[in-house]
Amino acid sequence: MKKFGSGGKNMREMIDKILITEDEISKRVAELGKELEKEYGDRELVVIGILKGSVTFMSDLIRHIDKPILVDYMAASSYEGSESTGHIKISKDITVPIKGKDVLIVEDIIDTGNTLSHIIELFKEREARSVKTITLLTKPSRRQKNVEVEYIGFEIPDYFVVGYGLDYNQIGRNLPFVGVLKEEYYK
Ligand code: XMP
Ligand code: MG
Repeated sequence: MKKFGSGGKNMREMIDKILITEDEISKRVAELGKELEKEYGDRELVVIGILKGSVTFMSDLIRHIDKPILVDYMAASSYEGSESTGHIKISKDITVPIKGKDVLIVEDIIDTGNTLSHIIELFKEREARSVKTITLLTKPSRRQKNVEVEYIGFEIPDYFVVGYGLDYNQIGRNLPFVGVLKEEYYK
């Protein structure tokens, strides 16, 4: 990314192609929410969003779970630009106690799986009753760690995508769909 900004263009004009439309996302998110509602029943569920990418997905998802749940966020990242650094940094921890609780990690995308495998390990060390993961997107072709992901919104090819919470160097989170940025914004 040359600099933050679009040179006067709207966000949509910065997109090369739309991979997943607003409609497709909202249908799938509703399905996943209902699946979770059934799965957890009356068990005490702590839903933990990994900042910042999961925020849009999570805020839509939890409104389809018609049960009492606890919500928290953790800031953890293993990325610089579009290259994985292979390690994770936790810059904001959760405040809800999870010992003995069912935990659901909410991710925007699972790429190499490095970030997620660290987070699962951490929550297991903290003695959560169960730790499962839901992700909006997964890029199976890029996986390095063999992590289990119980709920998946969409499988995508190896594009660097933005929108619906996902960013390229912080740009693009506010797009309502998932799309691919035009090359000129990351070359
Ligand atoms: P790993 O490799 O640990 O990476 O599974 C997960 C994190 O990497 C970021 N990521 C992306 N972010 N578009 C994005 O906006 C992408 O295509 C993409 N691929 C990986 C993301 O922060 C995710 O949580
Ligand atoms: Mg992220």
